[in-house]
Amino acid sequence: MASVAGGTFVPTYQGLSPAHVMRLALSKRSESKGTTPYPFNAPHRLSYYRARNAIYHLFGALVETKPSLTVLAPDYYSGNEIMALQAAGARIRYCPVGPGMQWDPSEVERLCRTHAPDLLYVIHYAGWPQPIDALAELCRRREMLLFEDCALSLLSGTPDGRPLGSIGNWSVFCLYKTLPLPNGALLVQNDRPIESLERLRLRQAGSASVAGRMAELFVQRIRGRVNGVGAALQAVKRSLGAAAGALDVQRANVGDIGFNLDEVDLAMSPISARLIERFDYEDIRRRRIANYQQLARELDPAVAATFPVLPDGVCPLFFPILVPNKAEAADELRRRGIDVIEFWNDPVGDGSEMGPNARFFRAHVLELPIHQDLSARHISYVARTVSSLDLRMAA
Ligand SMILES: Cc1ncc(COP(=O)(O)O)c(C=O)c1O
Repeated sequence: MASVAGGTFVPTYQGLSPAHVMRLALSKRSESKGTTPYPFNAPHRLSYYRARNAIYHLFGALVETKPSLTVLAPDYYSGNEIMALQAAGARIRYCPVGPGMQWDPSEVERLCRTHAPDLLYVIHYAGWPQPIDALAELCRRREMLLFEDCALSLLSGTPDGRPLGSIGNWSVFCLYKTLPLPNGALLVQNDRPIESLERLRLRQAGSASVAGRMAELFVQRIRGRVNGVGAALQAVKRSLGAAAGALDVQRANVGDIGFNLDEVDLAMSPISARLIERFDYEDIRRRRIANYQQLARELDPAVAATFPVLPDGVCPLFFPILVPNKAEAADELRRRGIDVIEFWNDPVGDGSEMGPNARFFRAHVLELPIHQDLSARHISYVARTVSSLDLRMAA
């Protein structure tokens, strides 16, 4: 495990190994490991550079058929999906999330009566399913469309084995959050393919965006194993980035919060498309679940997990916990080499749509890494470090 100059590094995201790329060079499509699961085998799937681009194009097409398209969305969101909906011209109304980061179908129904939305925008947070059957039933009854935002829920499913994203009319997946890819998202049209979307011509992102992110993925992986070498490589990478900047090469970022109309037509890069065919998805799921369970066992029980259990079928993206002071805890954990994520600090606009639970989550949820690249020793380090800080929520 990475441990140089007294430091250990636990990266936020999975890295890319030379083995991934070797496999790419050596293998044929038919040699991919295991079977390719949903959404990669969905008949009507379209790829994009980022999920927000897919959301923009889908909702743009829906607004074209109904200019007053009204969407009921949760009041706890990343911001990227809301900005994409707004840019596409959709009207947004909000429904508060409950204390377990879940929608209460009866509250959703009440707000459907108030706002008469055309479409329900469901977000499955960090792999945990929303009560999707009740929400789908509500949509059928009220003749509403159903969209599943699975940006954070790739490879996750219901306890009875249905993949998240396969139940709504459409779903979107952000691939680079779960897989070591420089970019990539999928839009799945489950039962009402819109033809204009299939005809859309996307353009390639500049090679600096792809090469820069590939370099970061390699460096992340090395840093997670040998901190000193990785830190040195990070410096090299930074100077490469600076060189690209000096040449005025435009870079389209991934993993940020924002929306740029100039970048909505970017395509997923060919290297992402080829890597996708070669991952061992069953192994990725298994490792994420095992890491989550190990952390749940080893964390001081006084640390509050956001979700009390890991239900069957869930492929966790992170281990979300509640902490009294998010910014302070995040700084302290980063100082100790754990690259945590502050789960959605800011609303879009003035935040007047937020109910008390969304406000609480923005103030208190921190995500601990549990991705497939982390070993049992990384997870023990995270458990020990988090448990050693006083992160108990007030009773
Ligand atoms: C719930 C949700 N939807 C959509 C997106 C947009 O994903 P992308 O970064 O691929 O545009 C994100 C990413 O932050 C997200 O968290």
